[in-house]
Amino acid sequence: MNVMASKDDRLEFEAHKREMSLALGRDETAFQHAVDTLVHLDKYDYAYLWSWMGVPIIQMPADILATQEVIWNTKPDIIIETGVARGGSMIFMASLLQVIGKGRVIGVDIDIRAHNRDSIETHLLAPRISLIEGPSTAPETLQRVQAEIPAGASVMVVLDSDHSRDHVLSELRTYGPLVTEGHYLVVADTLLGRQDMSQAPTKRSKVWYPGDEPYAALKAYMGETDRFEIDEALNGKLVLSSSPGGYLRCTRP
Ligand SMILES: C[S@@+](CC[C@H](N)C(=O)[O-])C[C@H]1O[C@@H](n2cnc3c(N)ncnc32)[C@H](O)[C@@H]1O
Repeated sequence: MNVMASKDDRLEFEAHKREMSLALGRDETAFQHAVDTLVHLDKYDYAYLWSWMGVPIIQMPADILATQEVIWNTKPDIIIETGVARGGSMIFMASLLQVIGKGRVIGVDIDIRAHNRDSIETHLLAPRISLIEGPSTAPETLQRVQAEIPAGASVMVVLDSDHSRDHVLSELRTYGPLVTEGHYLVVADTLLGRQDMSQAPTKRSKVWYPGDEPYAALKAYMGETDRFEIDEALNGKLVLSSSPGGYLRCTRP
């Protein structure tokens, strides 16, 4: 028998994590080093190198972990993702809902290619997924999304489609009101607004420069609503992330 009782330090451990995350969030030097690293890694398409349960997920590992923390802590009934691409994020979020034992992921994309639809619809987690093809901000698309949300469901939203300022602002106005109190609105690729002009990634089909990107949209939207607050502890540790400052908690009905 172990006579030395170990001290239960779980609360202390969590308090230390929070304190360090908040301190890291104030360390502008660490953030700038991380931005330089991420810009360098983009030469190798770093965000494109990963998969979740066999399906490519276009995310930084830190964002996958952060999203996992959000979903586990809040356990939403419905997660809406705009921008499905190859489907990895939908499969990832559905895998968490599967373990939690409830919920669905609704994915919206303007162009769901046949092979990507096939990967998603034949996956073990397909029963927890709905795919909706259409422009994310079109009223018909919103109606189709709303039709998938049961009355009284708790809702989380992830915006990861076209990253231009006006499109993201329009998505924020369209999907922000669907997020329920206590749940999260995640605006992806805010990093585009935290780099200087020379660091804008130019090898993708579209180039988004600071000012015409998700962070600019997020700042504009925060001036229009008082329903969301930045989760400072979560965002503080997101230095090696595509979406620093992009994780918002809904604080009002
Ligand atoms: C960055 S990828 C999404 C990556 C995905 N969320 C993941 O984690 O793997 C962006 C996607 O947004 C889609 N998209 C672009 N403009 C859109 C729009 N107006 N409405 C809906 N989807 C759009 C593109 O077709 C593309 O598949």
